[in-house]
Amino acid sequence: MNAAIRAVVRAATFHGIEVVGVRRGFQGLHEGDMRLLGPRDVANIIQRGGTILLTARSHTWRSPEGRTLGAGHLNAWGVQGLVVIGGDGSFHGAHYLQQEHGIPVIGVPGTIDNDLYGTDHTIGYFTAVETALDAVDKLRDTAASHERIFVVEVMGRHAGHIALDVAVAGGAEEVFLPEDEHPAEHIAEVVRVSASKGKASSILIVAEGYPGGGAGVTAAIEAQTGLDTRLTVLGHIQRGGSPVSSDRVLASRLGEAAVLALIDGKSDVMVGRGHGGMTFTPLADTWEKRKDVSRDLYRCAKTLSV
Ligand code: F6P
Repeated sequence: MNAAIRAVVRAATFHGIEVVGVRRGFQGLHEGDMRLLGPRDVANIIQRGGTILLTARSHTWRSPEGRTLGAGHLNAWGVQGLVVIGGDGSFHGAHYLQQEHGIPVIGVPGTIDNDLYGTDHTIGYFTAVETALDAVDKLRDTAASHERIFVVEVMGRHAGHIALDVAVAGGAEEVFLPEDEHPAEHIAEVVRVSASKGKASSILIVAEGYPGGGAGVTAAIEAQTGLDTRLTVLGHIQRGGSPVSSDRVLASRLGEAAVLALIDGKSDVMVGRGHGGMTFTPLADTWEKRKDVSRDLYRCAKTLSV
């Protein structure tokens, strides 16, 4: 997020445009918590996790009154275009603000979940995967030494992108995705098959959106096989830390693209990356159309756990 904020501020400054930063997203918009941001205000933040502007899960944008209040603050500051960095919740707010108040809005995909249609990757995703992978590598040492089964639950809300990448990169024996439910009675089978192939330990990756989550898979294995199984829920550790280079580069590109899109007169679209270039996707498509996990990679994960 910080790399994206820096890119927006610096690109706008380069093109002679002033930037006003809104603190805590839509909550700050309603409260009028805004301040001018110059290029020096965003120095030394590209390497920092989180966001200097702070963030909040605000639901006030759900009401037309809330949006009217926000639009009033934007107009009072003379804001001519809004860049919203976030996921589908933020994009809903931006879309309605544009529809109801005519304020041009551009979305920048910022979520570790990578679940937005219209971009190959979202800002924060690569860092989350690296963090989870580092944990899996460490857990594998104990799993191998104790000849145990380890279930690792990763984030992703309703999507399995993080889980699938971590499973492949971490050499997991199995991955459980919300997109592809294993029936509960097959969970123990996965472990039995693994053991019958001579595997003394197993790492199973579970996306938090898989029905029952990591706890459900762990309980099913213990109940069905009696085998000693350990669960690790990685949780919010996946949302912090210094961003990896791919995230910083993506955020820099998308932040600049958002400013250029506003200058071009674009609105109500999300900037993204796809097919090696920039993409512009109507905001509504980002939540109405579904971005599936890579079926190729899923097949690959299965093949390589033989
Ligand atoms: O959308 C990003 C995400 O980290 C999800 O992966 C996770 O389900 C959720 O946010 C956690 O939200 P909160 O921090 O509000 O508990």
